[in-house]
Amino acid sequence: MKHNPFLPGDLQPIQHLQQALRVNHAGEYGAVRIYQGQMAVLKDQSSQALVAEMLQQEQRHLDIFNNQLKENHVRPTFFQPLWHIAGYGLGVITAALGPKAAMACTVAVEEVIDQHYQEQLAELSEERQDLKNIIEECRQDECHHRDIALENKAQQAPAYPMIKFVVTRATKFAIWISKRI
Ligand SMILES: [Fe+2]
Ligand SMILES: [Fe+2]
Repeated sequence: MKHNPFLPGDLQPIQHLQQALRVNHAGEYGAVRIYQGQMAVLKDQSSQALVAEMLQQEQRHLDIFNNQLKENHVRPTFFQPLWHIAGYGLGVITAALGPKAAMACTVAVEEVIDQHYQEQLAELSEERQDLKNIIEECRQDECHHRDIALENKAQQAPAYPMIKFVVTRATKFAIWISKRI
């Protein structure tokens, strides 16, 4: 996307970078909380193992963006306490609906995050190739999570279209609000 610094209200490159780091940190924080919520509810060992692996990778993404926030002197989103509760709650509710519904939640979240990271990669300048490499690495993990969820029968979840719709909207809303405050 072309970025004209002379338009009033347009973000300066440094603000753009800060916004990108803040929203990515918020997203990875939310992802950790979703999987922690699912782990608390899921009973069968095979889905626990799948979610544990995804949780481990989300924790690594979160550590990366925690460091990025510190290095670039960016504060986390004001809404972090909300994502702490909402993420966990989403994990608990979807896992309570069953392992397939838990996977359906992952499909919805990861599709939105993949799109979000793709947009960010297109917007960030070549000067931040280091950050772009990090984002691309995370994006590939997110696509892998989506594929795991699809392989594990996410689409056979009860009320799959509804879960997908609600979680997609909620994730998009979380991104929208975390970019702003
Ligand atoms: Fe992630
Ligand atoms: Fe993920």
